[in-house]
Amino acid sequence: MKQRLCAVGDVPEALPVRFDVGAHRICVVRLGDDFYAIGDTCSHADVSLSEGEVDADSKHIECWKHGSCFSLETGVPDVLPATKPVPVYAVSVEGGDVFVEVSS
Ligand code: FES
Repeated sequence: MKQRLCAVGDVPEALPVRFDVGAHRICVVRLGDDFYAIGDTCSHADVSLSEGEVDADSKHIECWKHGSCFSLETGVPDVLPATKPVPVYAVSVEGGDVFVEVSS
């Protein structure tokens, strides 16, 4: 199910924004014209990834609690202690709005 999240201008460059869509907690990141959406809850513990910092060069977001860095493209962490990926959502931009694809 495609779900509208917000207007393009509502997501600042490299500053993550969290959206709750049904049961999905989604962390959205904008890098230039590209948008990424991954699960917002760290796979190590119940911490919001959107409260962490984005590394635009490596396209990762760092969990502030213990420092695992998750790929915005694959959801896979590259640093312990997290070992499991977070979900990745398909994002699209249409008519100035940002949409994600979520299971209902
Ligand atoms: S809670 Fe995110 S790495 Fe530990």
